[in-house]
Amino acid sequence: MRFGFIGDIVGKSGISCVVSQVPAWRRRAGLDVVIANAENAYNGSGLSPGQYHNLVAAGVDLITLGDHAYKKREIYSILGTKTDIARPANFPANAPGRGWATIKLADGRHFSVIALLGRVFMRPVDCPFQCVDTILKSGELPPGPVLVDFHAEATSDKQLMGHYLDGRVSAVLGTHTHVTTADERVLPKGTAFQCDVGMSGPHSGVIGRETKQVLKTVLTFEPTSFSVAEGEIEVHATEVEVDDQTFLAKSIQRTILRD
Ligand SMILES: [Fe+2]
Ligand SMILES: [Fe+2]
Repeated sequence: MRFGFIGDIVGKSGISCVVSQVPAWRRRAGLDVVIANAENAYNGSGLSPGQYHNLVAAGVDLITLGDHAYKKREIYSILGTKTDIARPANFPANAPGRGWATIKLADGRHFSVIALLGRVFMRPVDCPFQCVDTILKSGELPPGPVLVDFHAEATSDKQLMGHYLDGRVSAVLGTHTHVTTADERVLPKGTAFQCDVGMSGPHSGVIGRETKQVLKTVLTFEPTSFSVAEGEIEVHATEVEVDDQTFLAKSIQRTILRD
């Protein structure tokens, strides 16, 4: 099985590039499953129900969210009813939505994704290491490949999660920093790993926002709203090939999609 994971989608322009690129990418790369982190889709924070439906219609099978999961409250109803979208699993137990999402392919195979939030330089949440253990031991996930989207700030935290889960899941791929890292590899026991898949949106600004506005706030401490940047859009994604018997990774490769 081959799957592709799209890094944090930022803004309308990011969504529209993903929507236009996914069908051809699926064919070209022979992808069975496409997953996207869409936590920054709505003006840079959150995901609207309309955007959710657009991504699903374009062929995105599973969607993950991060620290901005609830910025667009209208997504609560989707989180409460759909099984193809996940917010971080180590949120409080009463938080809207579920921490993992799963899909059954036409040929009967399953694929699951678990979303986790890091704790270094992030809001306080439950321990992601204990949380992922609980999910993996619960028997709730159907047999099949498992991707862990570790939405975290620190590269050290992400490397630790990769080694912690090596041999137990198909891939640990990071999101949140919006900067693609060049450290993709298959770890010794067969888990594909990359600190950060990167961002799908405008790469001209500062992690997707207008440079001038961010700079003004940093230099003067005057609060401003940060608009989504303009300019060339790139979709940063990673492809992983998984063994159909062991569900462990055979290869991992970065890619960039452009209109
Ligand atoms: Fe993000
Ligand atoms: Fe984030």
